[in-house]
Amino acid sequence: MLCYQNVSVAYGDGAPALSGFNLEVKAGEIVALVGESGSGKTTAIRSAIGLLPGGGKVIQGDILFQGLSLLQLSGEEWRNLRGQRISMIFQDSGAMLNPIRTIGSQFVEYIRTHRPMAKKEAWEMGRVMLERMGLPHSGDIMKSYPFQLSGGMRQRAGIAMAMVFEPKLLLADEPTSALDVTTQAQIVRQMLELRQQYGTSILLVTHNLGVAAYMADRILVMTGGRVVESGCREEILQQAKDDYTRRLLEAVPDMRRKRYV
Ligand SMILES: Nc1ncnc2c1ncn2[C@@H]1O[C@H](COP(=O)(O)OP(=O)(O)O)[C@@H](O)[C@H]1O
Ligand SMILES: [Mg+2]
Repeated sequence: MLCYQNVSVAYGDGAPALSGFNLEVKAGEIVALVGESGSGKTTAIRSAIGLLPGGGKVIQGDILFQGLSLLQLSGEEWRNLRGQRISMIFQDSGAMLNPIRTIGSQFVEYIRTHRPMAKKEAWEMGRVMLERMGLPHSGDIMKSYPFQLSGGMRQRAGIAMAMVFEPKLLLADEPTSALDVTTQAQIVRQMLELRQQYGTSILLVTHNLGVAAYMADRILVMTGGRVVESGCREEILQQAKDDYTRRLLEAVPDMRRKRYV
């Protein structure tokens, strides 16, 4: 599905922020990148959607999506891929909503820029997606302004937009970090449901090993732009070999009692 082959990324002339990164995310698989702030998680995930921040460049390797090199795509090809086959959600996707326009009008516009259809049809498509994201009274929410919703509801609206075309791959950068613990758990469960409903592969970035442990099939631990340990969830949780991973594990409260999120 998504395959990183020995990828290095640098910002300007500095040392690489990501070095020799290898990862294959299979169809329907959830992989988590964990590690401290500045370890290169965002750089890794954003390089797969052509959205590296200022001056970031892939200086080595290749990234393939369904066998196609993402590094060779034209702007037009990116527009067709993004949102429809690969989608991304951010720490506060909700904050990216325009504050002076209703959720519904933004949702309708978003849908229609990717796929031509009548406004009424797009509205219904958006409303149904909000409902699937566990937002009750979706008709009322469509008519609301972002400030009228809680942070968790806004985040769900953002995820609903990202998922409306049922993309094959969802890139999620700290999708729950800005939320309180209860809402975090709800969003995490919702993402697991998305995988179940649509077979979406998810590449998840989090500094919360608890969230990774709860959601991911496989975990990669990063520090200083490199992967220091990787394996299936059980391997990482129960037999971590790397010191750094062990320290991360010790920092998670209630890990032993399986209260992950
Ligand atoms: N826009 C940028 N310009 C220059 N350096 C950056 C930029 N974004 C990230 N970096 C550098 O790349 C490294 C990895 O950052 P990042 O991928 O954001 O880490 P993480 O998401 O794990 O916190 C850091 O050392 C950071 O300083
Ligand atoms: Mg980051």
